[in-house]
Amino acid sequence: MKYFTLDQLDSINVNREHPARYAVIGKPVAHSLSPQLHQPALDALALNARYIRVEVEPGQVSTAFDKMYAAGIRGINVTVPHKLEALESCQTVDPVAKSMGAVNTIVFDSNGLRTGFNTDGPGFTRAIREDFGVDPGDLKVIIIGAGGGAGRAIATQCIVENCSQLILANRTIEKLAPIKEELISMAHRDVLEGPRDRIEILALDDPALEEAIAASELIVNTTSVGLKPIDPSPFPSRWVEPHHLVYDTIYNPSKTRLLRDSEMQGARIANGLSLLLHQGALSFEYWLNCDAPLEAMRQGVKNALKG
Ligand SMILES: NC(=O)c1ccc[n+]([C@@H]2O[C@H](COP(=O)([O-])OP(=O)(O)OC[C@H]3O[C@@H](n4cnc5c(N)ncnc54)[C@H](OP(=O)(O)O)[C@@H]3O)[C@@H](O)[C@H]2O)c1
Repeated sequence: MKYFTLDQLDSINVNREHPARYAVIGKPVAHSLSPQLHQPALDALALNARYIRVEVEPGQVSTAFDKMYAAGIRGINVTVPHKLEALESCQTVDPVAKSMGAVNTIVFDSNGLRTGFNTDGPGFTRAIREDFGVDPGDLKVIIIGAGGGAGRAIATQCIVENCSQLILANRTIEKLAPIKEELISMAHRDVLEGPRDRIEILALDDPALEEAIAASELIVNTTSVGLKPIDPSPFPSRWVEPHHLVYDTIYNPSKTRLLRDSEMQGARIANGLSLLLHQGALSFEYWLNCDAPLEAMRQGVKNALKG
């Protein structure tokens, strides 16, 4: 079964020896790789639990959470387009997830009350450590596509990590001013050090972008440019230099034009597979309060991508 609908939830665990306990919601949701990530992890720990997909219409997220808990679901991932609605449908929201404006992980307490978290930001920190052996907090960062959901989550994490520089670039510059405001107020509220007064915003076509890239150490692409194999780089990739670390959040295709060009120019590169893996592992840890079996998850998602 590729996915269930809300109407089918009542019966998902009736007479099932292998009950559905965890799920991802989205619309569409059939393409989500979350089951291929989480089922191998549940199996590796010999937990008698299934991970399923549930398609939910916009406006139905709160109802979906109630129905899913009643049906026996005990942890939920949230994907596009529901991350904001999920935030608004939680009784408690982690403050960092609030600043990100998005929730991707739901944890239930024993009364079915839900707390929302966002694991994309902390997952990014783990991904950069794994791929480049460095903490993002030690780097000067530029995010290309910071006006989107993934870009905003990563920008927020850069503030949490006290990165020494944060430049936000986006095609639609208007989206960046409110994000910058939220980041500054979060930094002041939580008394964080780092670049709170030195967050720069730029349009992707601003002539100053070339210099901003040259001054950065870690370049992160969070635009969707590169998802199609014929896509160009989101900015002129001849600007990439050997000192750069280039992280593309896209993992399929495994090497976007940006990554191919950056590699040719001598930069170190990594794709978004590690972000997918670590954001999932962090959700798993929230639900089960134990380390996630990372290698089982990695193998599961690699197999899915091969398929
Ligand atoms: N590895 C992972 O686990 C993971 C997780 C989440 C997302 N991602 C990836 O991150 C990317 C963004 O996802 P999202 O959920 O943040 O999507 P989103 O909220 O829709 O944001 C899309 C971003 O791409 C920009 N963009 C789209 N088309 C563009 C173009 N032709 N030229 C320049 N910029 C363009 C948008 O700019 P405007 O604001 O100007 O429209 C915006 O910044 C996707 O490629 C997705 O695959 C990866």
